[in-house]
Amino acid sequence: MIKNAISRPNELFIGVEVYLNGIAKVLESILDFGLKNIMLSNLNSFYFLEAMPHKSIDKIFLINPDPWVKKRHHKRRLMSYEILSLLNKITKSKNSIYMTTDSSDYLRDTVSLLNEYKDSFGTFTSSILKKNDELYGISKYQRKALENGGKIYLLTL
Ligand SMILES: C[S@@+](CC[C@H](N)C(=O)[O-])C[C@H]1O[C@@H](n2cnc3c(N)ncnc32)[C@H](O)[C@@H]1O
Repeated sequence: MIKNAISRPNELFIGVEVYLNGIAKVLESILDFGLKNIMLSNLNSFYFLEAMPHKSIDKIFLINPDPWVKKRHHKRRLMSYEILSLLNKITKSKNSIYMTTDSSDYLRDTVSLLNEYKDSFGTFTSSILKKNDELYGISKYQRKALENGGKIYLLTL
């Protein structure tokens, strides 16, 4: 987000993260680079998305949301019918929601969810990111997964 905000000064970037230390780290970079085009929220993303107006966002990046691998924790996952409905409502056009994950299970379950609600959310694409893809290795969790020999999957919807 910092890199994008530097190279696109006329666009507004909004970061949403509940982990306060994460917010503090981004704030440091905002100050270091004197950035004026970033807003941060530490709201639970569900409430943030709920508060955003209809068709107000150009692009949404969900970068490696917690995969909650244990079945009993699946209900904590970000990708749900409710979140997908909100994402759909606030984006201006199709193919503007990008989710990356290093968890093949999370990818599979999200694909199942999207297939189940195809009538509501329309089509989507999924791929494995390659080194020269824009979203490859852009975050700490992605880099950790890649160092451990993992893959980064991308869903675009
Ligand atoms: C697996 S980490 C990924 C962090 C970072 N995106 C990366 O790829 O390095 C998931 C992050 O999502 C945040 N998170 C979890 N649930 C959230 C929610 N409901 N709203 C906002 N952030 C959330 C956590 O605090 C955590 O920092």
